Amino acid sequence: MAMTTATGAALAGGIRCTLSSFNNPTRLISRATKLRLPIPFRASSTALLHTQTTHPTDSIVVEKEVSNSSNSLACPVCYDSLTWNGDPPLSLDTIPESIFQCSTCQKTYVGNQTHLDLTATGGAKSYGEPMPASTELFRVPLISFLYERGWRQTFSVWGGFPGPEKEFEMMKGFLKPVLGGNIIDASCASGLFSRLFAKSRLFSFVVALDYSESMLQQCYEFIQQEENFPKENFILVRADISRLPFVSNSVDAVHAGAALHCWPSPSAAVAEISRVLRPGGVFVATTYILDGPFSVIPFLSTIRQSVRQVSGSYITLSERELEDLCRACGLVGFKCIRNGLFVMISATKPNKIAAC
Ligand SMILES: C[S@@+](CC[C@H](N)C(=O)[O-])C[C@H]1O[C@@H](n2cnc3c(N)ncnc32)[C@H](O)[C@@H]1O
Repeated sequence: MAMTTATGAALAGGIRCTLSSFNNPTRLISRATKLRLPIPFRASSTALLHTQTTHPTDSIVVEKEVSNSSNSLACPVCYDSLTWNGDPPLSLDTIPESIFQCSTCQKTYVGNQTHLDLTATGGAKSYGEPMPASTELFRVPLISFLYERGWRQTFSVWGGFPGPEKEFEMMKGFLKPVLGGNIIDASCASGLFSRLFAKSRLFSFVVALDYSESMLQQCYEFIQQEENFPKENFILVRADISRLPFVSNSVDAVHAGAALHCWPSPSAAVAEISRVLRPGGVFVATTYILDGPFSVIPFLSTIRQSVRQVSGSYITLSERELEDLCRACGLVGFKCIRNGLFVMISATKPNKIAAC
């Protein structure tokens, strides 16, 4: 079942368009067609792709444009868009040697062999800032090495996580409205889902983002070992979830697998996710949940408080708290699927109310 058809020719020309239009090709086309305006498409190629998932019972054909998301990248200091020195489209292979500059504060960010560091402290010479244990743990190279070699599998044994392939199938249901757009795999670790997103070709651009340099390095190595990995619409970015280096309203989807309980401040993180999502954009995440039958545990709230203080981890949130967190950060339409301690949640950034 094919969706809307659009012509790349409608995009030829040279007037200004907003970044939110840039990042939502479908809206861009319908607006351009309606107003008959030529619209520039900076640093992008336009093509229609037909994508079919490999899952036999869930065949999705997406007709989409390939757009390069470099215009969504923003300075983590002032949130203004970054300009890029590169000519070829931004990709895993063009990140080394790439130089990005903030149009406002003039700070530059240089890509290294594996990723682009877009933390606020990126490039600092002597200043360093230790994060809580739940963040620092994953920066240990041995943990990054072990992550897909046994560590992640334990989540299924004691946490009810269905496992990456099944979780991927489940989340596709939530992500249906934004297929064909760009996606950030936030706190991607060694990229188990980022790689699935890229290989599925269900999204026009995938940003694999994590705070841990060694996780990003491991993800890069896994990709290098794969044949025919679609590196052209994929980049690795180091960033703090509480300071996302993307322009506001520029992202179609954010996925965060098994990460919310590791974030130093889930509210700062979800607020950031809400800021960067475009209206109609979707947030989908998995985490642990501790409520319902677990509520009978004596002194649960004291235990929660102590766990948070010692580890910096929010591993004991309830479904009600998760829904409240999303709503408080401006996301609506909360949905969830549960299995034991496992929960997959989804919420959407509301569409703008039309002005009278
Ligand atoms: C348990 S792993 C989850 C990995 C993967 N998404 C999955 O589904 O298995 C949690 C990840 O959160 C990342 N993380 C922790 N604190 C972070 C922060 N402040 N900003 C960005 N990522 C962070 C860690 O580096 C780690 O890779």
